[in-house]
Amino acid sequence: MDKKITIAIDGFSSTGKSTLAKQLAKALGYVYVDTGAMYRAIAYFSMQKGYIKTDYLDKQSLVESLPNIQLQFQFNTELGFAEMYLNGENVEKQIRTIEVSGFVSKVAEIPEVRAKLVEQQQQMGKNKGIVMDGRDIGTVVFPDAELKIYMTASAQTRAQRRYDELIQKGDQVTFEEVLRNVEERDYIDTHRSNSPLVKAEDAIEIDNSNLNREEQFELVLKLVQDKIKE
Ligand code: DC
Repeated sequence: MDKKITIAIDGFSSTGKSTLAKQLAKALGYVYVDTGAMYRAIAYFSMQKGYIKTDYLDKQSLVESLPNIQLQFQFNTELGFAEMYLNGENVEKQIRTIEVSGFVSKVAEIPEVRAKLVEQQQQMGKNKGIVMDGRDIGTVVFPDAELKIYMTASAQTRAQRRYDELIQKGDQVTFEEVLRNVEERDYIDTHRSNSPLVKAEDAIEIDNSNLNREEQFELVLKLVQDKIKE
């Protein structure tokens, strides 16, 4: 049987990390974990509890509530991917709104939040055979991952992709709003003191501004196959 490896995919928001990760997991029979969904679920929880408002985040209450937050992925066979459950409730739709996108970076800055999620992510990956995407997977969660991919694309390209997705879902947003959100998150994700987004030294950088999904998938699948043979 083929050796199972750990694949870490990091990069800015809307670089198509999850699309690539899902394609790889399906082709290899690996588990896919979208770590952004975990941070989003905590942001959504904070909004529901009133811990987070436009210019305000009650960090202390959130940190005190962390032991009561249970996150779980459940595979949906119809959709072909795992959905996020927060304390037993499917929150897959609720965590993808522009409001949650606007707050999530603030929640992801909190060291206690990161410690809780990193520990859960490491547990999920302990048997390998996993594709995980996020910001700190190759640097903090799995520094020993056999394959690390760092994805980039211009902010304009990424905002256009996210805008198209939101419009298709029926959300009422403007392109400028989405671009501002992408730029703000880029700034916070790369400037926070705790686990900022950085390219791991041994990561392979892929700029997909001019690559379509299939080209990108073929390119990375080849890298995976080479690693499995090593
Ligand atoms: O990948 P995404 O856009 O769904 O991620 C949502 C937010 O969560 C993003 O602004 C940064 C944060 N995040 C993080 O800090 N670390 C991760 N491993 C994954 C996401």
